[in-house]
This record gives sequence, C-alpha cells and structure tokens, in this order.
Amino acid sequence: MHSAFQHETVLLEETVAALQPTGDSVILDGTLGGGGHTRLWLERSGPSGRVIAIDQDERAIRHAQQWGAAYGDRLQVVRANFEDAGSVLRELGVDAVDGILLDLGVSSPQLDEAQRGFSYQHDAPLDMRMDRRMETTAADLLRDRTERELTVLFRDYGEEKWAARIASFVVRERGQRPVETTGQLVDLIKAAIPAAARREGGHPAKRVFQALRIAVNGELSVLERFLQEAPDLLRVGGRMAVISFHSLEDRIVKQAYANAAKTCVCPPQQPMCTCNKRQTLRVLTRKPIEPSDAELERNQRARSAKLRVAERV
Ligand SMILES: C[S@@+](CC[C@H](N)C(=O)[O-])C[C@H]1O[C@@H](n2cnc3c(N)ncnc32)[C@H](O)[C@@H]1O
Repeated sequence: MHSAFQHETVLLEETVAALQPTGDSVILDGTLGGGGHTRLWLERSGPSGRVIAIDQDERAIRHAQQWGAAYGDRLQVVRANFEDAGSVLRELGVDAVDGILLDLGVSSPQLDEAQRGFSYQHDAPLDMRMDRRMETTAADLLRDRTERELTVLFRDYGEEKWAARIASFVVRERGQRPVETTGQLVDLIKAAIPAAARREGGHPAKRVFQALRIAVNGELSVLERFLQEAPDLLRVGGRMAVISFHSLEDRIVKQAYANAAKTCVCPPQQPMCTCNKRQTLRVLTRKPIEPSDAELERNQRARSAKLRVAERV
C-alpha cells in the first residue's frame, strides 16, 4: 500500500530554492504529503540540514516513516495540524526555524483513495476528512446544515454560481433519503445545474466538492491562524514559502504577508503613530511564482498553483 503513495510535487525546484537550503538550517514542512519538497530540501541541505515535517493524515506519516528512515535524525515527522506548529516546535525544543513551507490542499493519494470521499470521480462515502480523528464528515454537513447555510457554503467556499439551486436539490433529496455518497451528490449537482452551464468551467461538481472539503477541514481558518503565528516561528532572515491552489487561499496568503509587512496600521489622518505595529515579514514575490509551461504539461494539478515567498525581518 505504501509503495502506491504517488504524489507529483508542484513547484518543486522553485520552492526548495526559495527556502535556501544550507547545511546547518532547519525547516518546518507543514504539509508533508508524499515528502517531495522535504526530500529535495534534505538532499540540497546535506549532510546536516534538518526538516520537522507535519501532516494531519495518518497515511502520509506512515509512508514517511518508511522512506524517511534513510535520513535518520535529519527528519522528524509529527502527526499534527499545522495550525499547532508552534506547540509542536516547543515540544521538540526548537525556538525558531530557518524556513517554513506549506503546500496546501490534498495529495494525489488522498484523491485517489476512493474511500476518502474527496473525489467526484469515484463513488464512495462522502467523508473528506484529512484527519480521520475529526468528527464531522461532508455527509454530516449535508445532513445538518440548513438550505441557507449550504447555499452560503457552496457560494463562499466554492465560488459556485448555482449554489442556491444545488442547496435546494440537496435539501429536497435528503427529505427522501440521506445524501451519503459522492456519486449521489454528483448526480444532484448535475441535475441542479442547467445543461448549458454544465458545459463550462470544468467538472460541474468541482466547486461544490472544493467547498465541502474546505468546510470539513476548516481549511481557510486554519490557514489564517497559522499565518498569523508563522513569523514568530521564523528566525530573522528565515524564509516562508506557501503554495496555494485556489483564489480563496491565495488571497489569504497575500493579505497575511501584506499585513505582516506593514510598519504602521494607524488611520492615515492620525499625525503620530500609536499602533506599535511591528513589521515581521518582507514580501519577496510581488507577483506569485507560477509553474512553468513544461510543468503544466506534465502535471494537471499544477494548473492553479501560486507560490508566495516572504522573509522574516
Ligand atoms: C499537496 S499535499 C503536500 C505534498 C507534498 N509537498 C509533496 O511534495 O509530496 C498536502 C498535504 O498536506 C496535508 N495537510 C493539509 N492541510 C493540513 C493541515 N492543516 N495540517 C496538517 N496537514 C495538512 C494533507 O494531508 C496532505 O498530505
């Protein structure tokens, strides 16, 4: 099973280069997955660079316990949510790291393992929890949220134009039988979106599946909380690299960097600064780094990837 863990890493060279691997530095990889970034960073920072790698998915951790053995104590793997990175580092006795990496979203094995319920391409229970110790699944949300709440969820997290219609189809269906499988949800979405609109914008279920995944895993609030704390986890001169995969995530990263880069947040009409705002980051990427044409040709998943890099000041 472990050998089947295949994830093609996005923006591999670009991200590792941004994190400036050197022999005595230590980075935090908050989204270990198949370990593509971590492994290249370990290769480039040999023989003594170190990675503390976090993932909330048990399978990514088990996989890393196998391939990671070759790196001995240069790689420490912890099953946790990256929003708890501060306490993970404190428990390991690490005050600050030289680099932080996030490669957001799900890995290919999570998508490909039908039972996880992330994919509209396999019929499976509507689960979508990255950490299976969490209580609420996508099916629970579809059962418990009101029609209005589902509309807002599909619209805000999926940017789905047909949110209200899809929500009303879900509510009508659940009056007859519970909505519990990906196949059932895909059929509902297809029925709710008019045929002409269904032909635009990729798979018709893509946006609702994204919305449910974000909600089940609290992805946006976790990212916001982490980005608030992250500069304090970096030593001065350390770098932070975040790869996002949709506009909601990218906006959060861009704004968090911009806020951390501000020296003052007083109202402009105020004559003297009283806010005591401290600048913690310098943004190194005015525009995000995007995959090359060659990478886009090779890897579908790279399509919407954006890498933003900042430095601790
Ligand atoms: C896109 S994959 C990372 C791929 C990795 N960079 C590679 O090269 O193989 C994202 C991984 O981050 C994990 N993940 C997503 N959000 C997380 C969170 N809040 N805390 C911990 N792990 C998370 C997922 O379980 C998944 O394994």
